[in-house]
Formats: sequence, C-alpha cells, structure tokens
Amino acid sequence: MTRHDCLARDAVDALSPLRALFALDRLDAEGIVYLDGNSLGVLPRATPDRVREVVASEWGVGLIRSWNAAGWITLSQRIGDKIARLVGAGPGELVVADSTSINLFKVLSAAISMAKTDTPSRRRIVSERSNFPTDLYIADTLAREHGFELALMDDDEVGTAVDDRLAILLLTHVNYRTGRMHRMAEVSRAAHAAGALMVWDLAHSAGAVPVDLRASGVVDDAGDFAVGCGYKYLNGGPGAPGFAWAHPRHTARMDREQWRQPLSGWLGHAAPFEFTADYRPAPGMSRFICGTPPMLSLAALECGVDTVLAADAHGGITALRRKSVALTDVFIELVEWRCRGHGLRVVTPRDVTVRGSQVALAHDTGAYAMVQALIARGAIGDFRAPDILRFGFTPLYTRFVDVWDAVDRLRQILETGEWREPRFNVRAAVT
Ligand SMILES: Cc1ncc(COP(=O)(O)O)c(C=O)c1O
Repeated sequence: MTRHDCLARDAVDALSPLRALFALDRLDAEGIVYLDGNSLGVLPRATPDRVREVVASEWGVGLIRSWNAAGWITLSQRIGDKIARLVGAGPGELVVADSTSINLFKVLSAAISMAKTDTPSRRRIVSERSNFPTDLYIADTLAREHGFELALMDDDEVGTAVDDRLAILLLTHVNYRTGRMHRMAEVSRAAHAAGALMVWDLAHSAGAVPVDLRASGVVDDAGDFAVGCGYKYLNGGPGAPGFAWAHPRHTARMDREQWRQPLSGWLGHAAPFEFTADYRPAPGMSRFICGTPPMLSLAALECGVDTVLAADAHGGITALRRKSVALTDVFIELVEWRCRGHGLRVVTPRDVTVRGSQVALAHDTGAYAMVQALIARGAIGDFRAPDILRFGFTPLYTRFVDVWDAVDRLRQILETGEWREPRFNVRAAVT
C-alpha cells in the first residue's frame, strides 16, 4: 500500500462530500491530521453561524419570548428524536439532557428501582473492570445507597456473571480504551434470559457504529436503558449534553406507577408552568429531564447531529460503518507493517464484528510520550493510562490519506527516537 493508494481510495469514497460539512480548513492548511473525534468531534461548519444566531437573535432580541417562539422549550426532545434515529429508538423515546454521567445516574436509578420490585432477591450489578470510570463510580455509589453489590469482571468473564444473582448488567458498547465492541443483541438477550436488566453506555457508539437499541422490536434482544455522549461522534462541541433512553415498555410502566427519577426537577414535571408544590412526573422519557437545558450547547449539538444525519443521503450508518471498518483496517495494517520493531501492540480486536471506530495501540513505557511527539508532528490522537495510544476514526471526515500520514508520522517519531525527548514526557492535566 502507498500514499497514492490511499488518495485513490479517497477519490472514490462516496462519503467524501460529507467532509465539507466540517471546519477543517485551518487544520488542513497546517497539515494536521485529527484522529481524536472519539474524544471531541470536529467543529461542523454550520455551528458558529447557528450559535451566533441563537446568541444575537434568539437571545439578543427574542429574549424570554424565544422559549416559545424559537422552540427552545422542546429543543431537547427535538434533538432527542434525531439521535433516536441513529441508535434504533423511536420518536419520543430519547431525551437530550445533562451529561452522560448524570444520565447514567438517572437511568441506573430507574433500573435499580425496577429490580428491587421485580427481582428482590437479586442484589448484584455487574460491569467490566475496564469500563469507563464514571460508569463504575456512579454504579458503585448507587449500589452502596441501595444495598446492592457492584461486581466487576474482566472483559472475557462477563458471560459467566450472567446468573440468578444478577439484577443489572451495565456495559459500555464500545470500550473507551481498547475499542472492543460488544454484540449488543446477543448480550442483551443473555441478560434477559437470566432475568436481569440491560443498561448500555453508547458514548463511543452513537454516530459511529450501527446501534439498534430496540433490536427491531425483539424485546428480548433490546436494551432496557441507555445513555450516550454528544461531543464525540455526534460532533456537538466540548461538554455537549448527553442523552438518555429507556425502552418504551419501561416508560409505559413508569407512567402507570407514577415513577419518579431521583433528580426530579421542575422541567421533568408533567406541568412545569403550573408551579405546583407537589411533583408529578412528566409522561414517558420527559421525566428524565431535570432543569433548564443549555440552549447554546443544544444549538451546537443539533448542528453536530445533523452532520451525522447528512450521511443518510450517502448510504447512512451502514456506509459510515463500512468506511470506519476500512479506515481501521488500513491503520492496523500500516502500523503493523511500517512501525514494527518498536514494541507497539495492537490492542483493538482484528475481528471487525467486535471492533468499534477506534484503534488502540499499547506500549509498555512510551505511550504517553509517543502521543505527545506525534501531536507535535501534527497527528492528533490521545493517551489513555497506563499504556494506550488511542486513535479515533470518524468516517464523516477522516480520509484514507489521513491514516497514511498519521502512521507515517508515527513511524518517524519511532525511528528517530524523538519521542524520548524529555519535553514529551511532561504530563498535562488532560491526556
Ligand atoms: C464510555 C464513557 N462513558 C461516560 C463518559 C463520561 O461522560 P461525561 O463526562 O460527559 O459525563 C465518557 C467520557 O469520555 C465515556 O467515554
């Protein structure tokens, strides 16, 4: 494979027009390759104007009238419906609110309260030791509060944890470090067969890999609850709100039982502008909204989600997935060929059916410094402690030639040994 071959693949890539939706001109002019859209997606070209409009016109002129006139009050639900299309959920089933961490607190609380009623003898939440820390911390706190036990398994042990003690299985679909992806329907089915509830974290999936939360109507294979992130593959901007989903059979039951989630704020009330002293949960997923949503962030998030929906005209998520697999395949092949002999190991599965849209390489001692040296050479990935160099591939804007150039620069920093320079070993707050 040559750089020319990569350029030739870009020339026939049916998704290539989508790259124009992103403000990449400055990066392109500076020769910077960005392989970190799994951490913070690239700025969509439409976002600055839209945010400016919200500030100058909707806020500046419309002021309080914009809650009605500009549709601010229903914006969370409107964007929720758009994200729902990307994760196999229906309209009205998914809300945008708060952060992924806070949404996890809310949906896991719901799952715990259901488990307490339906399977009172089960007191076990199982997750993976390698799950993202916020998921583990929140699960641990809730488990302690409700007299549950949080059992952490190694990735290959999770199957064995599905037994008659299990109340809730909490997994991240695509692992943030390794990029390993669970077979969602299969795992949900196993959890349900054991009588447990299934909670999915889609932070590294939504917008990047096909997700079918509802399992096309097969209840046993569907998830029960899910959360996800707005600033990664959904390109919503730094700190963009996250989202929460519950299977409609659960929200129907919540309606029947007037169930309230623990962050029962006024905008999750059935009639917030009646300002009553008592809390009455809004129907369906709307009860998962807590307080006033951040309009500027929501406006930016909507632009980001629209970039993913724009792929519909080019084959949609299936085409995005095909390109993502091809990009990660090329990256792995090039690293193994051009960077061999430097102690790097490919951690991400070769099996594309269990690979997300990122590739993790491990190095025993130099991972952090290598990432910094690579960034200095204009190829941006990130480091995940203790030993991972992580590279994300966003098929909306990542080109095959970007993959070539990133690996070429990686080879250069390895062969020159420049990553050993002390300046690349200075730890920044964010890695
Ligand atoms: C898998 C996963 N879950 C949850 C989070 C936390 O998201 P937030 O900080 O937006 O709450 C992250 C952040 O990167 C993540 O990767």
